[in-house]
Amino acid sequence: MSDCILEVSGVTVSFDGFKVLDDLNFSIGYGELRFLIGPNGAGKSTLLDIVTGKTQADKGKVTFDQTVNCGRVSEHQLVRHGIGRKFQTPSVFGSLSVYENLEAAIGFKTNVFKLGGRLSGQQRDKIDETLEITNLAERQDIPSETLSHGQKQWLEIGMLLVQEPKLMLLDEPVAGMTRRERDHTGELLQRIGKNRSILVVEHDMVFVRQFATTVTVLHMGKLLCEGPVEQVQADPHVIEVYLGRGHQAA
Ligand SMILES: Nc1ncnc2c1ncn2[C@@H]1O[C@H](COP(=O)(O)OP(=O)(O)O)[C@@H](O)[C@H]1O
Ligand SMILES: [Mg+2]
Repeated sequence: MSDCILEVSGVTVSFDGFKVLDDLNFSIGYGELRFLIGPNGAGKSTLLDIVTGKTQADKGKVTFDQTVNCGRVSEHQLVRHGIGRKFQTPSVFGSLSVYENLEAAIGFKTNVFKLGGRLSGQQRDKIDETLEITNLAERQDIPSETLSHGQKQWLEIGMLLVQEPKLMLLDEPVAGMTRRERDHTGELLQRIGKNRSILVVEHDMVFVRQFATTVTVLHMGKLLCEGPVEQVQADPHVIEVYLGRGHQAA
């Protein structure tokens, strides 16, 4: 038994004979906030697809929370087991209010879509707590289509939080955000990372340097480098394939 919430061992995924993930080994510990970086096409999103059951591996195994074999369980069951994923593009229900979106997200987890009342007290408390932590309490009654881009992203993170995931997977959560919104997001991740594990796929190296402790670099479906952010950004291989000379200085 390992002490990892997520263990990817020997995973290979091919599309049209091209290995997108190539005998990949990767793991995340309980309570960790891990950043995953790498050039376009490195296989980052595919790795998330494998963990969430959206794509099946040709070879290898993904184990979640010691006992769940991700390749054998449906996407919906994986949500119930405690894996929450945010995709690159926001997918909130624009005509529903912020509060109603959170309600709908709870409904998805529990399999009952009940809008407009009948939530348990515990569920309402969870929504209130989530509104506070995402800084959306004052906007809970407005249609979510009127939120700023950053606020929509936070709402989506909130929609995961109400489902109480043990592991959150976030694909480029700060894309399109202003610097200020990025800072807020980094602080939000650190706050919510206190009692769960989070894997963040990210391109913005300023953001990564500011908020990451451990970084994993993926390149051509393999693990290129992993370690503290300072060490990773000084690694010659990482500089060559990903960062380029301009990124070398912190
Ligand atoms: N469903 C798919 N069918 C065919 N090729 C795919 C599919 N998903 C991803 N790919 C290919 O796999 C490679 C890795 O993609 P992806 O995991 O999205 O990379 P990243 O997120 O690191 O940019 C790319 O070359 C992409 O075109
Ligand atoms: Mg991607």
